Amino acid sequence: MNEDIKVFGLFGFPVSHSLSPAMHNAALRALQIPGIYLAFERDSKHFLRLLKSKKKIILDGFNLTVPLKEVVIPFLDKKDSLVELTGACNTVKRVKNSYLGFNTDVFGFTESLRQARIKTAKRNAVVLGAGGSARAVITSLALGKVSSIMIFNRTKKNAEAIAGHFQKKFKRTKFRIIHNLNELCSELKNADLIVNTTSVGLKDRSSSPVPKSLMPKRRTTVFDLIYGKKETRFIRDAKSLGHRIVSGEDMLLYQGAKAFEIWTGKKAPITIMRKTLMEGIRNQNG
Ligand code: ATR
Repeated sequence: MNEDIKVFGLFGFPVSHSLSPAMHNAALRALQIPGIYLAFERDSKHFLRLLKSKKKIILDGFNLTVPLKEVVIPFLDKKDSLVELTGACNTVKRVKNSYLGFNTDVFGFTESLRQARIKTAKRNAVVLGAGGSARAVITSLALGKVSSIMIFNRTKKNAEAIAGHFQKKFKRTKFRIIHNLNELCSELKNADLIVNTTSVGLKDRSSSPVPKSLMPKRRTTVFDLIYGKKETRFIRDAKSLGHRIVSGEDMLLYQGAKAFEIWTGKKAPITIMRKTLMEGIRNQNG
């Protein structure tokens, strides 16, 4: 293959419905960079086998999604400070035989809040979920100087682990876990920002991580990382209660734009990327 042709990719499972290939290929075309971005469906076992093989993955750069953002870390030759903080890596740049790891999800979330003019300093946040996306969201919020982050998760020990991890890193932010629905109800009443990072609502748009009856009456901001043609129940409920709402397209867009800039050294063509993403969402099934 011609050495001037750049090859990028996405690893994860599942990735067949990902809009990242369309978004990045449109950006490469717009800037006339000869190259391609492909999706490779790999679970942890297959991805680890690939990484452990003697030859490194010779892509110029790649993204990682569920469930690979953490398993890649021991294979990185260098990490940016956000990979250290979050414990998750979604972007790798290959330079010769070295892997440089980045976390652009944090920027994606921060930038989507900024675009929606949502302030975080001194605010109280409730984060639903304690997986890889929650790590990026919590890092962004703590760097944005929120006062408190209350974490509610199906599996309590995952919430405890994440709260413990971040309390050590961000001493000025108050981290607590929410143990039950009663506590959730009272924390939601105090919240200025509620973020869903769980996958509840992803496939079944009629299910919500929070029963509507527990949602606060006071106007607040509700952010669902899930995006798509059809609104999630969580966003629908929040809208009907008059809350300000944000959904996940912008986070996907801005994390992708940042990754593109890391790989190419060029400013990402954000308008084209957004247009391609929105077209992809409109054309999605269901
Ligand atoms: P991501 O990288 O998108 O965060 P993840 O690391 O697999 O993906 O995390 C998924 C999150 O959604 C977790 O917080 C998970 O809760 P558990 O820690 O209990 O696994 C949450 N989640 C997934 N399915 C759920 C469900 N049906 N009900 C409640 N929470 C769910």
